[in-house]
Amino acid sequence: MLVKKMGYKRWFLKHLLKEKLLSTILLVFLLVFIGTVSITPLFIGNIFNELASESSSFKVIMSIALFIAGAGVIRAVADFTQSYANEVLAHKITKNVTEEFYENMLEKSQEFHDRIRIGDIMARATYDTRQMNIFISPGIKFLFEAFFTLLFSVSLMVWISPKLTLLLVAALPFYIIAMYEYNKKLRPISKAQMEQNSLLNARLQESVTGIRVIRAFVKEEKEINEFDDETDKLRDINTRRGILSARYYGVVVTVLLISSSFLWGSYEVINGDLSLGYLITYVFLMMTLMMPTWQIGWGITQFQIGMAAAKRIFEMKEREEYVPESSSPIEWQSKQGTISFMNVSFSYNGGSSRKKALSNINLEVPGGSTVAIIGNPGSGKSTLIKLLMRLYDPTQGSIYIDGVNIKDMRLSDLRDHIGVIEQEVFLFSKSIRDNIAYGKPNATKEEIEEASELAQAHEFIMSFEKGYDTIIGERGVTLSGGQKQRIAIARALLVDPSFLILDDASSAIDAETERKIQTAIANVLKNRTTFIITHRLATIKHADLIIVLRNGLLKDSGFHDELILRNIDYRRLFERFSELPPMTTIEEN
Ligand SMILES: Nc1ncnc2c1ncn2[C@@H]1O[C@H](COP(=O)(O)OP(=O)(O)OP(=O)(O)O)[C@@H](O)[C@H]1O
Ligand SMILES: [Mg+2]
Repeated sequence: MLVKKMGYKRWFLKHLLKEKLLSTILLVFLLVFIGTVSITPLFIGNIFNELASESSSFKVIMSIALFIAGAGVIRAVADFTQSYANEVLAHKITKNVTEEFYENMLEKSQEFHDRIRIGDIMARATYDTRQMNIFISPGIKFLFEAFFTLLFSVSLMVWISPKLTLLLVAALPFYIIAMYEYNKKLRPISKAQMEQNSLLNARLQESVTGIRVIRAFVKEEKEINEFDDETDKLRDINTRRGILSARYYGVVVTVLLISSSFLWGSYEVINGDLSLGYLITYVFLMMTLMMPTWQIGWGITQFQIGMAAAKRIFEMKEREEYVPESSSPIEWQSKQGTISFMNVSFSYNGGSSRKKALSNINLEVPGGSTVAIIGNPGSGKSTLIKLLMRLYDPTQGSIYIDGVNIKDMRLSDLRDHIGVIEQEVFLFSKSIRDNIAYGKPNATKEEIEEASELAQAHEFIMSFEKGYDTIIGERGVTLSGGQKQRIAIARALLVDPSFLILDDASSAIDAETERKIQTAIANVLKNRTTFIITHRLATIKHADLIIVLRNGLLKDSGFHDELILRNIDYRRLFERFSELPPMTTIEEN
């Protein structure tokens, strides 16, 4: 049998126990608080007993009153401290859990992120952590408070009159049934509440992201109506919860219990078996029992919700989908920068995808050369370079840099030496300077500007009012595709990587921008091994090696002059852009 791995309950407990000091403070002040709450009725009873006695003394009453006042002060301080400690405890644990989750998400494999919806990750990082937080504060406090209040108050009640306490024992089953029923009905409502909330969040997120499509098809009204329907559902669920709370009949049981205790208690007082003061104490204590029954019900429900949330967070975190690191990595010492693909095949979805994105690729790229990769959309161009970056590992075959399998290198070494300009450039909502310096945060102003000059970005950056301090994206300026790309080129150039990968978006741009990007690319190519995916003929023509992909197969490779003569795919590509005569003389290969 396999050794059972840590479950979500232990994981949660581990986080809870880590905060020993806070938990201790919480517990100690909670006990002080409950102690003072339970002891006060006893003092009050004693005042009445003093009043009822023949030799009643005002002095004694005064001192008891002082005790009551003192207990009140201690109670207030203890209550504040325990609530505060509870809040801080919940905050700390939530913070630790969220940080652990965030770190874990950054380490997850690309396959994981391809598959999991952003909304799902966000829901766990925000809504579920919030539910855990509520269980800790005030959930845990409520449960402890209820338990100790019952313990203290009932002990006192037994001490005052074991007989009267029998009434309480008789009422106990009713309490349990009331609580049980309340909980049973509350659970599906809470679940529906959680689900409806997630659904609303996901819808909102999708609508905001897809706002342009909604506008283009004039579907605003339809979206609003559908959203309204969903919020109405949430309102109905919330109302059901309210009605359920109002119907909780534990309170009725308590009222009946109090009146019957009064009756029986009075009988005992008349018979001289119980003092008047202690009857009052008894009834007061009974009133303190009203909260715990409610607290236990609420606490147990929130416990279930909180643990379900912990489970959701834990489960996503526990999915072991990392790009595995070699346990004894080979030191990076690349000299020539020769890259070879040996019999590399790859399919997405952990190799389960029927269609191979790449099949049996064999390729040798001498150091310092420029490789142009061309092929139809979906032919596997981007996939090839994702494998080189180890965003994914080949399902078959290996990739080597100067004879070293990239799997045996330290991931950070490999990625440090590769600069990437991706097809869909992603920029952070920070200043242009911070975006360019992302890979080299300590870069000087001169270095940043030099990289931008090379990338043909300096000029347009300076045309903004705030220059390099211009904030991009949300609440900042929006850049065009060509501008974003040049910023990405500057970002990659600044780190001066040994290898460069450029996945050129084929977006149509004006001649001036085209010329600039062309210059930027030419600057990038100097003195390093470069993989470039592009439709720009000038770049392709001057490449040292051109490889032609079709449906994941390496169809051909060579120089421009050879390929134009013998490869139909290559030829077709060029026909689209230039005035080559149609390919009637060359046979399909
Ligand atoms: N994350 C992914 N999950 C599953 N399949 C994928 C994924 N990314 C790409 N594919 C599939 O793998 C194949 C190759 O895709 P790839 O992105 O490498 O093509 P490409 O040559 O770069 O195309 P384009 O010129 O449009 O950028 C395609 O069939 C595509 O549908
Ligand atoms: Mg691509």
